[in-house]
Amino acid sequence: MAKLVDILENFPFSKEDKKPMLIKKSEYSTALYPPNNAFTSDNTFTMVTTDTFMLGIYELGPGGVFAPLDVHPGDESYYILNGPVVQRSGNGQFAYLETGEGLFMPEGAWHCCHNFSDQKARILYFITPKAWSEEIPPAVIPSEEETKFYKGPNNDNLPNMKDKIKDISRQGCTDDIGSWPVDPKEARETGAVYAVRDFEKLNNVHGVKHPMLMRFITSNDYGHFGEFILPAGGYGPRCSDPDSHAGDAALYCVDGPVTVNLSELEESYVLEPEDTFFIPAGVKYQLVNFEAKPIKVVFAITEL
Ligand SMILES: [Fe+2]
Repeated sequence: MAKLVDILENFPFSKEDKKPMLIKKSEYSTALYPPNNAFTSDNTFTMVTTDTFMLGIYELGPGGVFAPLDVHPGDESYYILNGPVVQRSGNGQFAYLETGEGLFMPEGAWHCCHNFSDQKARILYFITPKAWSEEIPPAVIPSEEETKFYKGPNNDNLPNMKDKIKDISRQGCTDDIGSWPVDPKEARETGAVYAVRDFEKLNNVHGVKHPMLMRFITSNDYGHFGEFILPAGGYGPRCSDPDSHAGDAALYCVDGPVTVNLSELEESYVLEPEDTFFIPAGVKYQLVNFEAKPIKVVFAITEL
């Protein structure tokens, strides 16, 4: 398999050659991250890396952690496929995340992730607009001793985060689209990280005649990330209203199979669970559910 650095911004197509594409689980590009020490790596599966975003999965074995800390020149959001995991930030925040929960991490926030469970952990991540600069891993990385943690030797030299972490328990509304779970600019300044539990997702209904549940984990000027839940049943298969986005997007199938219908192109694709579909900016699509159960996909959209 290719090195992560070699496929960056050009997988599964070059960024000049974007097109709608089904990317099967078996076609994901695999790598260890970091690539230079398997003892402290996670097992990484890259679905899409282009000039507007990166979507991938990483796995941590029981008791595992990836090291050293990581950082991105873009926001990173998580959807926990198999938890629990503990996301460690350099600033002393430790987010305990169960299966199905999310995370918002503003650009520039140092992080790693621990698996304290007896199961393999799997994390779906979305980084936008830019995942890495030229250096993978970054050239200058703080040691864990330089970060904040219980009785850490460097705690007094790091900012006190207590007043910088916002309360996100307020129920959201449609007007919160674009600033969920918090105002992104402020979070990028303070470096505060937010676990977004199931009850903290921003719920909206997509479509009136053919309603589909849309649950944002994050929504801001860099991107939008969350769940589509399309129920079963209808006159014919249950379909969502066709939609298109101003930016590139991808769908990851959690509960399926689900059919992605490109209504103007008259092409359709079947996503089995764990498959991904890339949707270039401007391409109209709808989800079609032929099953006798609700289907769930995670959406990653750079501009609605
Ligand atoms: Fe990361």
